[in-house]
Amino acid sequence: MNIVKETTVPTRNLLQTDAPLFDALVRYANSETVSFDVPGHKMGALNTPFRDAIGEQALKMDVNSMVELDLLSHPKSVIKDAQELAAQSFGADHAFFLVNGTTVGIHAMLLASCKPGETLLVPRNCHKSVIDGMILSGVLPTFMQPEVDEQFGISHSVSAENVAKALKENPTAKAVLVTYPTYFGTMTDLKTICEIAHAAGAIVLVDAAHGAHLRSMEGMIDPIQAGADLVTTSMHKTGGSLTQSSLLLLQGNRITADKVRKVTSMLQTTSANYLLMSSLDAARRELALHGANAFQRLKPIIDEAIELIESGGHYEVLKNNNVSNRFLQSHDWTKLVIRVNGLGRTGFEVYSLLKQRYGIQMELAEGYVVMAVVTPADTTTTIECLTSALLDIERTCTKPHVLHSAWTVVDSVNELVMTPRDAFYAEQESVAIDDAIGRISADTLMIYPPGIPLVIPGERITCEVIQHYAYYEQAFGSVLSESKQSGSVTVVKGGF
Ligand SMILES: Cc1ncc(COP(=O)(O)O)c(C=O)c1O
Repeated sequence: MNIVKETTVPTRNLLQTDAPLFDALVRYANSETVSFDVPGHKMGALNTPFRDAIGEQALKMDVNSMVELDLLSHPKSVIKDAQELAAQSFGADHAFFLVNGTTVGIHAMLLASCKPGETLLVPRNCHKSVIDGMILSGVLPTFMQPEVDEQFGISHSVSAENVAKALKENPTAKAVLVTYPTYFGTMTDLKTICEIAHAAGAIVLVDAAHGAHLRSMEGMIDPIQAGADLVTTSMHKTGGSLTQSSLLLLQGNRITADKVRKVTSMLQTTSANYLLMSSLDAARRELALHGANAFQRLKPIIDEAIELIESGGHYEVLKNNNVSNRFLQSHDWTKLVIRVNGLGRTGFEVYSLLKQRYGIQMELAEGYVVMAVVTPADTTTTIECLTSALLDIERTCTKPHVLHSAWTVVDSVNELVMTPRDAFYAEQESVAIDDAIGRISADTLMIYPPGIPLVIPGERITCEVIQHYAYYEQAFGSVLSESKQSGSVTVVKGGF
């Protein structure tokens, strides 16, 4: 048996070729430590079906904070080093490891930047976690409308012009939150937004859940380069780490690192998972060392695939020049947004066909589109698999007419009668969805994915919300609500 010495790993001369936390964890897992601590599976000592399925080494690496492995809430050695390397590789001043996804990063951004009662400018098509962050923090939202793409039936980002207008109308706004890139990969002019917001004294927060890979891609501007103050990015989505692991990045001094550290440690578990944290460290190293080459390799494969997909005339793929001509925004080509309504079919139908007939799992469907996420894990073979399935569907499933629908984009502007936090704490009751018109919602109704709310707590439920709800229920059956009974919604009691 080895005696484990209580030493800390040197914190000097950090290089992107290092992965200090990952290496320390592997060393620990391979040591012959006799465990009398938690977790109680004791590094997978018991032979169980779960161990058979995930492998003994994974359980050996599922350990708790001990001196060799540092502590997320007060990092001094290997976690500190790993976070410093992450900050360096993303060009930020500080990086914080998150073990509850970008969701917790968004909550932390709101709590760190705004006091209760201060105003946050935010796109209405923000993710549900932003709405929940408003309830937790007590910030007052002022919603900005995103650009609506009728052709693809989706919404893009909010324009710099709309942000400037919102700042003019709300001169005391404390912060502006921007989704960059959007779920569909569109990117607004964030550099200009940062300049305008900073000139107006507002902090810029970026939900970059879908942008962990941007820094590795030629010609893309990542949120830190654009000048954002706080950025949360889901490394687990496109950066190669394990599900739930994200990064919170801080730049400049509009918010202190101390404040961010306090808030993240307040919101996160005291038993942060080392598999997740070490996967952040390992994925950062991969991206830093090999990311650029990997995306360069993929680009011509994707260009060729797009040409092939569009060759039959029924599909259209969302492209950078299209988005930039129509909306002055750019597009990330790793989000393959394919318009399929030319087949006379909804995106939901094509999504199901791809899954059932060809075993292809797409990231999401909408009324007119399906979307595939491409990462360095893809190869010519996987891309060919998708293109040939799409061409087969085109050959065998095309209807005579293009499909049109009034309900593909959630672009209605609902009246915000009370703050999401006030609605959350108000007395509530459950009513059938059809009886809810005119009532104030205490619920978030959303389509998942992408998790964009149809209505949020505090908003008045309109006829349009109900029609949208019915469309998604009927087309896809994936409208999520917090209400216990399906077909019902929680509203503020007596609120008309
Ligand atoms: C735009 C956006 N923001 C935030 C989130 C939350 O990210 P996470 O799953 O890492 O908590 C998501 C998740 O899909 C998202 O799409």
